[in-house]
Amino acid sequence: MAKGWNKSDWRAKPRVQMPDYPDQGALNAVEATLAKMPPLVFAGEARRLKAELAKAGRGEAFLLQGGDCAESFAEFSADNIRDTFKVMLQMAIVLTWGAKVPVIKVGRMAGQFAKPRSAGTETIGGVELPSYRGDIINGFDFTADARVPDPSRMLQAYTQAAASLNLLRAFSTGGYADIHHVQSWIANFTDVEEAQRYRAIAEQISDAMDFMAAAGVTSSTAHELATVDFYTSHEALLLEYEEAMCRTDTTSGLPVAGSGHMIWIGDRTRQPDGAHVEFCRGVQNPIGLKCGPSTTADDLKVLMAKLNPDNEAGRLTLIARFGAGKVSEHLPRLIKAVKEEGANVVWSCDPMHGNVIKSSTGYKTRQFDSILQEVREFFGVHKAEGTVPAGVHFEMTGKDVTECTGGVRAVTDEDLSSRYHTACDPRLNASQSLELAFLVAEELRDRRQMQKVANL
Ligand code: PEP
Ligand code: CO
Repeated sequence: MAKGWNKSDWRAKPRVQMPDYPDQGALNAVEATLAKMPPLVFAGEARRLKAELAKAGRGEAFLLQGGDCAESFAEFSADNIRDTFKVMLQMAIVLTWGAKVPVIKVGRMAGQFAKPRSAGTETIGGVELPSYRGDIINGFDFTADARVPDPSRMLQAYTQAAASLNLLRAFSTGGYADIHHVQSWIANFTDVEEAQRYRAIAEQISDAMDFMAAAGVTSSTAHELATVDFYTSHEALLLEYEEAMCRTDTTSGLPVAGSGHMIWIGDRTRQPDGAHVEFCRGVQNPIGLKCGPSTTADDLKVLMAKLNPDNEAGRLTLIARFGAGKVSEHLPRLIKAVKEEGANVVWSCDPMHGNVIKSSTGYKTRQFDSILQEVREFFGVHKAEGTVPAGVHFEMTGKDVTECTGGVRAVTDEDLSSRYHTACDPRLNASQSLELAFLVAEELRDRRQMQKVANL
């Protein structure tokens, strides 16, 4: 870990995408309050996630990271948390079937509140106002008042994250996550006519469970079938919040981000000498780094050295997000940089952020087929390079929203207006998310065949 690092060092570095708070006194007071609050996660959990990610990097596990683009105060409810958790569990079982290795479940949940924006202002009907930057910073309403950065929002975000994580922990161990429930939810999906092409896989999963039950392995005899490990993650964008939530772990004596298990650096804030890299390099949590089309091999080498100086396995997840049709243009040079450095990384694919388009009806959307195409290209390049495609990263919800188009229950451009609820980017709905898991599982089956051949 970075020696001589201090959690406030980022303040001396150039910062981008962060608000200028008009009331410095109010900001200081909020930071002082947050600094006294209990952390949301325990450092030992972050270390366990790191160890699991290390396995993913070697192909011995697979990372499923997903959740809202932006959590919001208005959409906060037990039902929303439950539904996203529920669909992630279903996806995880389907992916486990494909990969035949454990699936690491990491929510973009319980802290994913701050958003980088492509423009500093937004103009509607000739009125120009500062952009919405996520509920932890300012308000979504298009009024001058709402758009003023308000530090007290950090306290509300903390409270919401704490309550969300509490419920997630309860669901994880309290019986809700029992594999038998999850399997019956999957069957509900494949029972519908449109999803029949996924039935064979669902039946194989069901057969495997019947076999285990016959052999005496059930959720009452095997704890692993009744509970899950579920981790949280978010973009570490609002550094005043991250610093205030940073703690010294009493076990290791090292700093830990107390705001979530894994934090990531966005594609717009990954400047090697910038504030975000400076903060993230000093905490012991697993770190994600978004890599977009403008990431150069040299940038990546510098970033890997800064963020993972000891080349610790599981510490750094590179989240590739290039857009369908662009993976083979960009991913190989980054894989080459990783190979040249002998760096330990976990390669994950975010097929969401390079695939935003404007629909014919004016809505910001993403097409299911482009998302799938980018995932397939990602697996294809790794296959050609002999490297490990270790995870996927989705913006998704358990609700039946109409934000992305396509999928078996085809959402069309005309449907988008009916249930378009996102506070930021369009999310896959429950059906689209699970369908994607089936399709990624097929890629993983192929990965497994490759691993078998390699081990002969
Ligand atoms: C995000 O993950 O919400 C995001 C803004 O991604 P990126 O930094 O890759 O654009
Ligand atoms: Co997004």
